[in-house]
Amino acid sequence: CGIVGYVGEDKSVEVLMRGLRRLEYRGYDSAGIAVIDDDGVLNTRKRAGKLAILAGDLEANSINNGRTGIGHTRWATHGGPTDANAHPHLGDNGKLALIHNGIIENFSVLKDELLSEGFTFESETDTEVAAVLLGREYQRLGDLSAAFLSVVGRLDGAFTLLAVHQDQPGVVVGARRNSPLVIGLGDGENFLGSDVAAFVEFTRRAVAVGQDQIVTITPQVVTITDFEGNPVEFEEFDIAWDASAAEKGGWSSFMAKEVSEQPDAVANTLLGRIHEGQAVVPELEAFGDDVLASIRRIVIVACGTAANAGYVAKYAIEKWTRVPVDVELSHEFRYRDPVLNAETLIISISQSGETMDTLMAVKFARESGAKAISICNTQGATIPRESDAVIYTHAGPEVAVASTKGFTAQIAALYLFALHLARVRGSITAADAAAQVVELQAIPAKIATVLLQESAVHELAAWMSDTRAVLFLGRHVGFPIALEGALKLKELAYIHAEGFAAGELKHGPIALIEPGQPVFVVVPSPRGSAHLHPKVISNIQEIRARGARIIAIAEEGDVAVLPFADTVLRIPLAAPLFEPFLAVVPMQIFAMELATVKGLDVDQPRNLAKSVTVE
Ligand code: G6P
Repeated sequence: CGIVGYVGEDKSVEVLMRGLRRLEYRGYDSAGIAVIDDDGVLNTRKRAGKLAILAGDLEANSINNGRTGIGHTRWATHGGPTDANAHPHLGDNGKLALIHNGIIENFSVLKDELLSEGFTFESETDTEVAAVLLGREYQRLGDLSAAFLSVVGRLDGAFTLLAVHQDQPGVVVGARRNSPLVIGLGDGENFLGSDVAAFVEFTRRAVAVGQDQIVTITPQVVTITDFEGNPVEFEEFDIAWDASAAEKGGWSSFMAKEVSEQPDAVANTLLGRIHEGQAVVPELEAFGDDVLASIRRIVIVACGTAANAGYVAKYAIEKWTRVPVDVELSHEFRYRDPVLNAETLIISISQSGETMDTLMAVKFARESGAKAISICNTQGATIPRESDAVIYTHAGPEVAVASTKGFTAQIAALYLFALHLARVRGSITAADAAAQVVELQAIPAKIATVLLQESAVHELAAWMSDTRAVLFLGRHVGFPIALEGALKLKELAYIHAEGFAAGELKHGPIALIEPGQPVFVVVPSPRGSAHLHPKVISNIQEIRARGARIIAIAEEGDVAVLPFADTVLRIPLAAPLFEPFLAVVPMQIFAMELATVKGLDVDQPRNLAKSVTVE
């Protein structure tokens, strides 16, 4: 869910709606705002559906503006996406409004307690329970911060809560546990947001709220305490993104814009991390070379597209560093009693830095003695704060729910990490490492070349608009790219899609092939992967013989694929480990184009949210 809070001038409605527009990628089942107007009356408006529905409603029937307010865009957990279940929820006889991101696990116990005291509820949500509880404490204590202090200790689970009370205009109070919250510091106004995107157009000065802390903002003052009420010192940081980076700027969708930004995303991620032809990642100095040299095993934890970046990086990290690498889905990792110790390095990959499954995996690993590095794209996010070191990808804000530039930038960051580690451990010669760096530096321009083929991919999507299933095959680093191609298609075009290791085909999946079945095949380079190329060509022949329609993604000049492929999409020459940066691009474009042809929302696919902050 996305959360925004504001105190300052008489423009809360605009600030909240603009913030929600930038946060909508975090959830878009329903949206709502609550504003205390200049007469001291709390007005709320909430609607199921996308933010545009709330905006239309407010246009048709406006609410009074005011200096204090909160806003929410929802990804449903408890209770379906209805008007009643949308946030804000009210307490203290409609005088208090509360919004929430996360899950309050013990809500039914609390609800029973409140029901027995005669309180009533209008929704099925866990959030309303917190609102009513907070309202009860406000009545007792007469102060919102004090009411929060009394309530937070009773809540189990994960939450960011923001509330306003009409008897305390000019104050917004928030609390966070295991869910994100960032403060924006303005001049005579202050902001709260799930991430800095909520307020970056108004201020670039921010503070990340820590775990188990309560924050109170007024137009002039920001105070933070822990859950016992002890004051907490905080540090400001400057937001590197500018507001225009989070605008669509003439593109048909955020995704189209972000796909096209991949050359810059990779180039910016390399910036400042290559020194005299070698990968030198300053952020890793936090560890000291002796610690890096003592690592015996690496475990990568991530979800979704970030996990696919991890699968790609495994090949490079193992090859260059000779340290064994496991890649695990974060939600599977933590609950199976994994073997961890001080010689294990956990690398979490998360574009948002907020994915709860990944956050929990990192915390668990550190409690078990492992060290943790975060690969993240969002400053002030929680996972970097819970890690020993962070390598930020500098991809700029990624708004479309399906990750694209985040993915390629993640691979770039992981390769830099691998080359740095290999240098420290002496597992690679300086000349070899330098050659890999040259390959990496050439990637942005090569991605730009692949982007030029957009129209060929568009034609492909146009004739495949009725396709019901698509298969993706790849081998070596092409295998995770096949997984990513399939994931993109599921997310965006709602088509059944699966990625397979090409060698696994004959062990089962080949039974799926029937005449006309489209199959994308990532073909390894005939030069760089001379041993694998003929094997994949054989796989293509095997499925072609059974009627499959082959779309080959193959290197420039590879003529061996021509007799067997119905369509060939070309990628520039690159060393094998660097092909993923290029081969994934036509797949991203294909998924986007197919969704567009089908009339679907490319940036906000159904049922998804960009940053899933519940387990
Ligand atoms: C969600 C999104 C995916 C994304 C995954 C990981 O499930 O829908 O597109 O890949 O989270 O997100 P993260 O922010 O941790 O990279």
